[in-house]
Amino acid sequence: EKGTYPYYMLKEIDEQPAVMRNIVQKYQNEDGRLTVPEDLVAAMLDADRIHIVACGTSYHSGWVGKHYLEKIAQIPTEVHVASEFSYNPPLLTGKPFFIFLSQSGETADSRQVLVKAREWGYPALTITNVAGSTLSREADYTLLLHAGPEIAVASTKAYTAQIAVLAVLSDALGAKLGHDMGIDMVHELGIVANAMESIITQKELIAELADIYLPNTRNAFYIGRGLDYFVSMEAALKLKEISYIQTEGFAAGELKHGTIALIEEGTPVLAIITQADVASHTRGNVEEVRSRGANTCVFAMEGLANENDQIVLPAVHPALAPLLTVVPTQLMAYYATLHRGYDVDKPRNLAKSVTVE
Ligand code: M6R
Repeated sequence: EKGTYPYYMLKEIDEQPAVMRNIVQKYQNEDGRLTVPEDLVAAMLDADRIHIVACGTSYHSGWVGKHYLEKIAQIPTEVHVASEFSYNPPLLTGKPFFIFLSQSGETADSRQVLVKAREWGYPALTITNVAGSTLSREADYTLLLHAGPEIAVASTKAYTAQIAVLAVLSDALGAKLGHDMGIDMVHELGIVANAMESIITQKELIAELADIYLPNTRNAFYIGRGLDYFVSMEAALKLKEISYIQTEGFAAGELKHGTIALIEEGTPVLAIITQADVASHTRGNVEEVRSRGANTCVFAMEGLANENDQIVLPAVHPALAPLLTVVPTQLMAYYATLHRGYDVDKPRNLAKSVTVE
């Protein structure tokens, strides 16, 4: 039930801090360490390559998952759009391991790849919000998101839950391998939950920013580098699917290779800056578009922010920044849609779960 909330999407955005805490609790053992089943760890450590397969928002969380699996567990990982897998199959190595990311666990495009992986005899893990769903039943292993039902068509808490579970999984694999990445995941996810709360209390500011930066515009861009690029793709999907503003999530450095031609007076460009190693480069890209007339809005993490930035996000571990930065972009999409008078929860042409290929 959405209770006093006007829309499920807003309720689900607000639930994200509790979901983070719930995930920590569900995956913590008696010693306070994050664990996943031993047989899953063994199967994944036996693999020479991981293939993440997903659609839409789940595909976007897959990119963050690739970053964790490679940086924390050090296993080469690829990310695939499920519907493309059959036509552009990867060259498989001797011991691939498949991860299916799906909020609903019912997405037909993902399922057809799972069926194929099973035919080939490769092990598969489904990370889903729905216990007993098709993708869960047909995979060898399941990790649950523990996010509670997601009703709004636009996925919000499932995205952050998927990233948190992928962080937990990578942490458990890394611990087994003896890699010390210096991330106390339980502690850092707690900091993320608190930081999410502080963003959620700034709804009025974000509603105003949606008015200022996403007025009657036909198009918009989100830009970032590295992990911020992955969030830009998700932020763009969220904005376009409910507000119908044509939005592209773009790698900030790639803009000048063509797309910058689309920037004209007043084009909204929203930049995400949370990674110290690329912050000054992204700022350079913000200047490039601003000087061509773009209406620029910067979301920056404390420590990398300056006084002209529109949103300053509390500092969290940089690897976990996607969990936080996506929240103001979800709220921007929500308010831009509300201000246009569209049904936030039920955008046109879309269903919550896509059960046809
Ligand atoms: O249930 P799934 O995670 O498999 O769904 C995948 C996509 O259909 C889904 O994320 C879709 O892109 C959402 N509408 C995004 O908000």
